[in-house]
Amino acid sequence: MAFPIAKLVFDTYHLKQRTYTYEGIQIAINPEVFPPNFTISTKILLDYVKSLRLQNKTFLELGCGSGILSLFAASKKAIVTASDINRVAIETLKEASKKNKIPITVVYSDLFENLLNKTFDYIIINPPYYPKAPKNIKEHAWFCGDNFEYFEKLFAQLPQHISPNTLMILSEDCEIEHIKQLAFKNKLSLKLISKKSVLKEKNYIFNIEKI
Ligand SMILES: C[S@@+](CC[C@H](N)C(=O)[O-])C[C@H]1O[C@@H](n2cnc3c(N)ncnc32)[C@H](O)[C@@H]1O
Repeated sequence: MAFPIAKLVFDTYHLKQRTYTYEGIQIAINPEVFPPNFTISTKILLDYVKSLRLQNKTFLELGCGSGILSLFAASKKAIVTASDINRVAIETLKEASKKNKIPITVVYSDLFENLLNKTFDYIIINPPYYPKAPKNIKEHAWFCGDNFEYFEKLFAQLPQHISPNTLMILSEDCEIEHIKQLAFKNKLSLKLISKKSVLKEKNYIFNIEKI
């Protein structure tokens, strides 16, 4: 859904806490946290994760928001770490992990800052991609900074952590070519592995690779 429509619908609907259920996993969606039910990207990634063999694979959801992807991956026997800079998301996900009896590791981390020297079999990223400075923690789910600072920092850190499965979803709604150039500056390339149109909006899953 195009911004700002998605954000407007989300802000109105999410004035109070809601619940969301996927494959028997029930989570609370706090108004301060990115909604997996209103936006298309999380659902596309859930479908993608469903197709993966994850038993005993290490799996990082970088910027986990509600963490439904992390809980689902763990329900498929992956060894999951979920990270975010939103402390409300972190605490709500810890609760959901307990309630659903799906153990995962939940870490407060600005990108890889608290995940130093860690590598994973899978890294999944649904990034904020609208170029605007976030004014509060909730807006970090949508805005990547006036000058795409989120991506600058991510691509600078990623070479130390990258795995053969480092996946990122982007929408046609965002400046994909610019994001590709930022990756290229750090000797990374975005290889298209899946394309899905929902409500006429094209979404792409890229594998990030070292050049
Ligand atoms: C678009 S939401 C995706 C949430 C979740 N992965 C999903 O697919 O539903 C982006 C998430 O990245 C988090 N985020 C933004 N900047 C971050 C940073 N520098 N470090 C860690 N997480 C960040 C936001 O707080 C938000 O939860």
